[in-house]
Amino acid sequence: MPIATEIHAIPGPLVDSSADLLALPVRSTEDGPVVVTAGTGPEADALDARLPAPLAELVAHYGLKGKPGEKADFPADLGRGLVQLSFLGVGSGTPADLRKAGASFARLAKGRTRAATTVGFLDDGRAEDGLTAFIEGALLGGYQFTMRSSAKPPEPVPAIELVAEHPERMPVQRGTALANATALARDLTNTPSSRKDPEWLVSRAGAIAGEAGLDISVWNERELERDGFGAILGVGGGSVRPPRLVRLDYTPEGPESGHVVLIGKGITFDTGGLSLKPNDNMKLMKTDMSGSAVVLGVLSALGALGTRTRVTGLLALAENAFSGSAQRPSDVVTTYGGRTVEVLNTDAEGRLVLADAMDYAAAELKPDALVDVATLTGAAKVALGTGTGALFSTDDALAAALTEAAEASGEPLWRMPLVEEYRDTLDSTVADLANIGTRSKDYGSPGATDAAMFLREFTAGLPWAHLDIAGPGRSTSDEGLLTKGGTGFATRSLLRWLAG
Ligand code: BES
Ligand code: MN
Ligand code: ZN
Repeated sequence: MPIATEIHAIPGPLVDSSADLLALPVRSTEDGPVVVTAGTGPEADALDARLPAPLAELVAHYGLKGKPGEKADFPADLGRGLVQLSFLGVGSGTPADLRKAGASFARLAKGRTRAATTVGFLDDGRAEDGLTAFIEGALLGGYQFTMRSSAKPPEPVPAIELVAEHPERMPVQRGTALANATALARDLTNTPSSRKDPEWLVSRAGAIAGEAGLDISVWNERELERDGFGAILGVGGGSVRPPRLVRLDYTPEGPESGHVVLIGKGITFDTGGLSLKPNDNMKLMKTDMSGSAVVLGVLSALGALGTRTRVTGLLALAENAFSGSAQRPSDVVTTYGGRTVEVLNTDAEGRLVLADAMDYAAAELKPDALVDVATLTGAAKVALGTGTGALFSTDDALAAALTEAAEASGEPLWRMPLVEEYRDTLDSTVADLANIGTRSKDYGSPGATDAAMFLREFTAGLPWAHLDIAGPGRSTSDEGLLTKGGTGFATRSLLRWLAG
């Protein structure tokens, strides 16, 4: 669901707020925990006068250290009847700590009507990045997706007040744009595949393009055939719901700084095709379009964030179904660029649809950088778990910039090598390439690398990065910023990289 919480920046003091939850940040410092009130003097005095004990004593009473996300709450009467007063650990005030604190605050605020905090009075020179992160946490920690017939309490708080000395300096718009883009990616990912077929994603992309001022063009199955997208057609051929390719263009106002193409894997459901998945693996596969969801989320927010780079998004959309018209292991498809690929495993479908889109990007768009995002391999999840995405790149500067943006966004990426020695694993006996590592076992079955090496063949030497988000694209628990289901992982990183 779109985020239901609004953020307002207001001047202090906190005691004047009509909120029913008031959170006081607690920093951890070398001298112990320190409560952040709206300035020093009067606010602290006013609070102390109405609390059962002075702030410092209360902090000691609850044994608080100021660890990020730590919380303790108790009722207090600040002159308008009882409200919930809460301490909220913000660690040393780094963006990562504040993001965690924001999420903790959102969870604390569930079921309330209005929640206020003096986090805007934290000032250590990193205020803007830290407060942006806090807002991301506060909005995404309250994110929910539900198809229940009636709401299940507690619901996200409708309004959050950031009490600040200079409310106009609060990065409300930036934090909100980053969180909304992520929530959009999550919503698309969490939508069940009974509703979400390629055409449904096309209509969502159309609506988003309209709102965000993007140009959009769409290939239906006949147009894909006409233009030679044999790999997308091969993957989508098993479904009664035909494949699509979507191109979205963001053109900044004023001078441009470069052109980036983002490509998203958009498998609206991955049964594995005739190389059928067991049910335990298959039931998670409505999320196999996460890459496309992330690309759409990013495109939706570029304008709001004032991005100066020209960005084209390509969504390679298909349902990998099991049927009499599905492609067979051993079939050969021809990609947009004319290369032939032997499909030895129909469950390695992501790299096929991406190959067609990458061929198109390289031939028709010739961008300065090509970045694809995909829930591509179970092997990436085995290697790095659910907390970190795998990054493969042919360009050190691009890899470094993405890693930095990912770090700043709390969406860590770890660079993995493209091992030249393994190149012959892509050899096919009948076609230019095979879609799985034919000698993978000789090299210890490096599944994520096999897939990345395959994709590299379609980059035409352009600076390229590949984000395998099979692990972090989905969460199995409600924790911190994450809620069960799609995470929109990499949306905020790509936005930070593109928008600065
Ligand atoms: N969509 C899957 C990868 C995946 C696995 C994503 C787990 C999220 C969680 C992909 O299409 C796939 O099936 N990959 C195969 C490749 C193999 C057949 C070479 C895999 O990883 O097993
Ligand atoms: Mn698959
Ligand atoms: Zn897949």
